[in-house]
Amino acid sequence: MGSVCYLNGTYQATGEARISPLDRGFIFGDGIYEVIPVYGGCLFRLDEHLQRLDDNLAEVRIKQPLKREQWREVLNEIVARNQETHGAEQSVYLQVTRGVAERDHGFPDSHVEPTLFIMSSPLKPLPADIAEKGVAAITHEDIRWKNCHIKSTSLLGNILLRQYAYDEHAAEAILIRDGEVTEGAASNLFAIIDGVLITPPKGPLLLPGITRDLILELAQQHQIAACEAFITPAQLKGAEEIWLTSSTKEILPVTTLNGNAVNDGKPGKRWREMSHHYQVYKQQLRDSP
Ligand SMILES: Cc1ncc(COP(=O)(O)O)c(C=O)c1O
Repeated sequence: MGSVCYLNGTYQATGEARISPLDRGFIFGDGIYEVIPVYGGCLFRLDEHLQRLDDNLAEVRIKQPLKREQWREVLNEIVARNQETHGAEQSVYLQVTRGVAERDHGFPDSHVEPTLFIMSSPLKPLPADIAEKGVAAITHEDIRWKNCHIKSTSLLGNILLRQYAYDEHAAEAILIRDGEVTEGAASNLFAIIDGVLITPPKGPLLLPGITRDLILELAQQHQIAACEAFITPAQLKGAEEIWLTSSTKEILPVTTLNGNAVNDGKPGKRWREMSHHYQVYKQQLRDSP
């Protein structure tokens, strides 16, 4: 049995699912998405992901296709149906688009129903040498729009920025807008500056990451000094540690920035400490009934 997806109420083979070319997701990138990791068959921080989805759909005025309880049911069903092929550690992708309508920038008639698509893939393990080597990052001007708090499927800016990083043999581009560091092309940013863990505050210039919130929660639980504050490129350059966070990459330690070593060029002790807390948190989910 291959990978199974859910499209508008029907479970089917992912490779066989079909949408109309007039779908506004295809034509305009007019949709909202989420990526939810699964550990031990359990969806990680599901309520938080569904809340962000709710907020985003309301903000861009796409109809919410399912009630919270239905979301839970369908997402768990997708995990269960893919368990044989993908195992118990998966990455679930969902997207809701404004639906199928004649091409016109303005919203379609209110009878047009959103398109709902969910798929799952095996969760890729982090590189085995991450704790020894960390990753390289570059900085780049943020070329995206000014509603980066919306998890929009229109990702051309993010795609180009990530590719600029790959072109420089780096894993991620760290973005700078108006003299402030905001986030990565597909990750949030943390830096240790003068011993304090700092992440830029939420606002329209960055995605309110689910992993970001968890890191702040874990910092509080474990009495790690942390705050939300603006970071300048100069502060980033002199940071003791730099981390990038996302649902599928967890916490990546950045050891090279624009070709220069971050601190001693090795993943830092604060990263080790936070990674440990993160792994314990994940394990609790796997062990939950
Ligand atoms: C632009 C951007 N920022 C931050 C994140 C991290 O968000 P989360 O922790 O919810 O995965 C992502 C995730 O893909 C992203 O695309």
